[in-house]
Amino acid sequence: MHYKLALIGFGNVGKNFAKLLERKKTRLKKEFGITYQIVAIATGSHGLAINPRGLDARKILAHLSKKGSLAAFHRGKPVSGVVDLIKRCGADILFEISPQNPWTGQPALGYIEAALQKKMHVITANKGPIVHGYQKLRRLAARSRVQLRHEGVVMDGTPIFNLYESTLPATDVRGFEGILNATTNFLINAMENGKPIDTALEEAKALGIVEANPAVDVEGWDATSKLCCLANVLMGANLRPQDVDREGIQNLSPEKLHEARHRGNCIRLVVRAWREGRKVRGSVKPTEIPLTHTFATLSADTTILTLDTDTMEKISIVEGPGGPHQTAFALLSDFINVARA
Ligand SMILES: NC(=O)c1ccc[n+]([C@@H]2O[C@H](COP(=O)([O-])OP(=O)(O)OC[C@H]3O[C@@H](n4cnc5c(N)ncnc54)[C@H](OP(=O)(O)O)[C@@H]3O)[C@@H](O)[C@H]2O)c1
Repeated sequence: MHYKLALIGFGNVGKNFAKLLERKKTRLKKEFGITYQIVAIATGSHGLAINPRGLDARKILAHLSKKGSLAAFHRGKPVSGVVDLIKRCGADILFEISPQNPWTGQPALGYIEAALQKKMHVITANKGPIVHGYQKLRRLAARSRVQLRHEGVVMDGTPIFNLYESTLPATDVRGFEGILNATTNFLINAMENGKPIDTALEEAKALGIVEANPAVDVEGWDATSKLCCLANVLMGANLRPQDVDREGIQNLSPEKLHEARHRGNCIRLVVRAWREGRKVRGSVKPTEIPLTHTFATLSADTTILTLDTDTMEKISIVEGPGGPHQTAFALLSDFINVARA
């Protein structure tokens, strides 16, 4: 089957995805009968392009590396904006990989609605829309008889939603806990080594592992968004960040971490969700845990999620160092799942 693809956002994840598609092209065709063409790409400040005959990803990657604009690749009437591009591009699948807005989910939420209304399958790694509109988007996708997939929103390409969907049939998720934000792990680790939070943050920024707005990591918004995505999808909740009991790591210090060590514990930013009657509750908090606990034994670049289920009791999923490569794989696996269905 041949698919026309539109990419909304062509940053770290988008570029890695374009390269991964190219690398797996032969295999996609041979094993899954998938061929594809990228017919549209949108960015925030590097222009927009539609070409119904296909955009050459390799040429675009080379062009953008020299700070060029996508406008040079556009064919046809000028495009007035991203929604206009979505409506006119004729894609079968929209990949929404623009920046996360943890507070409203916009503009990505609007992009996804526009695509579902046009009966395109949607694949996203953007948490915002899954936090702020999952139940509505799911109904919209069902009405349009298309798929909405989002493996990349939590723990990059590590299978969580796809694992649950394909291997845990008829299972209720009673709750979950985890460490889902690697950046706060890094910061806590640096503070454990005696560095004040500001110095730790500067180091993390130099490594490129901090969100454009550091508060998204430090104040626990990113972990909260991940909690909401998991609760909304796996527990049928409708949680928003403001419903979550959230405390970031901004008040931690080397001294507090040192005192915890003296008690035989360490502190990690722990995400928890549980059912209370018919409601789903969530918290994100720096939590003291014994040094013997699995969460305490993981290295700083590792994330972990433990699901509490009514069939398997507890199952843990661990990811080593992650990033845009793994998130690109989430998009690829979702693409293959769309084709399989
Ligand atoms: N990086 C990861 O490892 C990772 C892991 C899991 C999930 N995610 C999620 O995946 C998404 C993309 O991440 P990323 O690392 O690729 O981000 P990124 O490098 O900042 O790239 C974002 C892309 O979106 C474009 N963009 C900005 N504003 C836009 C708008 N209003 N409409 C359309 N496009 C817009 C940017 O264009 P300009 O550059 O021209 O502004 C850029 O091409 C985010 O939602 C992120 O939370 C990322």
